[in-house]
Amino acid sequence: MSDVQAAPAETSRGHAAPGDAGRGDAVPPGGWYEGDIERVVVDERRLAERVDELAAALAAEYDDNDSVLLVGVLKGAFVFMADFARALGRHGRHVEIEFMAISSYGQGVTSSGVVRILKDLDRDIAGRHVVVVEDIVDSGLTLSWLLRYLASRSAASVRVVALLRKPEAATVDVDVHYVGFDIPNEFVVGYGLDYAERYREVPYIGVLKPAVYTRS
Ligand code: XMP
Ligand code: MG
Repeated sequence: MSDVQAAPAETSRGHAAPGDAGRGDAVPPGGWYEGDIERVVVDERRLAERVDELAAALAAEYDDNDSVLLVGVLKGAFVFMADFARALGRHGRHVEIEFMAISSYGQGVTSSGVVRILKDLDRDIAGRHVVVVEDIVDSGLTLSWLLRYLASRSAASVRVVALLRKPEAATVDVDVHYVGFDIPNEFVVGYGLDYAERYREVPYIGVLKPAVYTRS
């Protein structure tokens, strides 16, 4: 059995239960990174299937004439954003793309939830149907700050799609409407997620070998 958990199904409109990531533990050959990956947490096939499922569910929430404004959180969400936008197009929704870059102040002082904007939205989102596209929700502090920020900019609606969610996120009061996969509390890389700016191009979600962290 996989250690990637599916959370209890939520039935209300606008929420989707996380998917089952499958076994996906064999590291596929190929790529400079092959020797650095200990195990695959979500493989390419499950990522593709789940992105399509999330897009289908989200697309059903909007009317045909609605234009959806996707707000991706850099850098980690860039790969998910690209696949998710194309999946929404296949499911009949036209989308516009915005990115924000934000950074949380020091991990030890997260109680403040203070976040610094490195790149702001390029335009007004007042009256728009906004969908926040996140790579991973861990403590949830970054996301809850972002949702307060977007609410202050008068969007018509705000939905949140997160590809991954870690267990601690479940303990904070932040409403993630669509979750790809609930994963164990381990550091993961790939599909946009990095360790020291590397591994973003890895096509699956994986865990690094411990030796990688002790390399100089
Ligand atoms: P919070 O705790 O505010 O943080 O929900 C979310 C942000 O923390 C980063 N993060 C990770 N990045 N692998 C990564 O590459 C991980 O396992 C991981 N866990 C958290 C990420 O930037 C995310 O947006
Ligand atoms: Mg990072």
